[in-house]
Amino acid sequence: MPLKLAVLVSGRGSNLEAILKAIRNGALDATVEVVISNKPEVKALDIAREHGIKTVTIESAGVTRKEHEERVVAELQTHVIDFIVLAGYMRVLSPYFLGHFKDSAGLFKIINIHPSFLPAFPGKDAYADAFTAGVQESGITIHLVDEEVDHGPILAQRKFPRQANDTLESFKSRGLALEHVLFPEVLQRIASVGLASILGEQVRS
Ligand code: GRF
Repeated sequence: MPLKLAVLVSGRGSNLEAILKAIRNGALDATVEVVISNKPEVKALDIAREHGIKTVTIESAGVTRKEHEERVVAELQTHVIDFIVLAGYMRVLSPYFLGHFKDSAGLFKIINIHPSFLPAFPGKDAYADAFTAGVQESGITIHLVDEEVDHGPILAQRKFPRQANDTLESFKSRGLALEHVLFPEVLQRIASVGLASILGEQVRS
């Protein structure tokens, strides 16, 4: 059965595009049921529309976190979905939101991609933080979300090197290229072998 996904975005949408391309070329057995943005007119929404995916904008500006989350939850509840995918969604999810998407093992069915080798460099500027700290290598993490920011059971991590002549821009693009490979790959692993087998002991404990 294809994995049914809802993707939450806030901006550029390059990870969303990588996921949609992987679905289109048969590398990822999934469907994107809806793309929800908290910002209007972002590129991610155009990408979704180009792929014929339903888009919904639920603006976070000018409303409380609770009001915004209630609207997002209400939209998500109109779909049958296996996982929520955070692809550059620049919002911290509250326990109220998380509580709606708990599975029978007590895990939240929400997957995030973070551009560092967690637990190193959590936060919204991970590439810049790692680069400024002078790391010789950094990485990408895909994890299930929990109550802490950029934290939760890790599904996959991959490293990439810093090169001697790197600028922040070249460092970022090397990482981003890796994100675009890793995210569809991890989702396909979930589709083919299931989350429990990826998490192994963590799910059984
Ligand atoms: C990516 O670097 C992702 O790891 C981080 O936010 C960025 C989103 O980029 N969480 P895009 O919108 O997918 O292009």
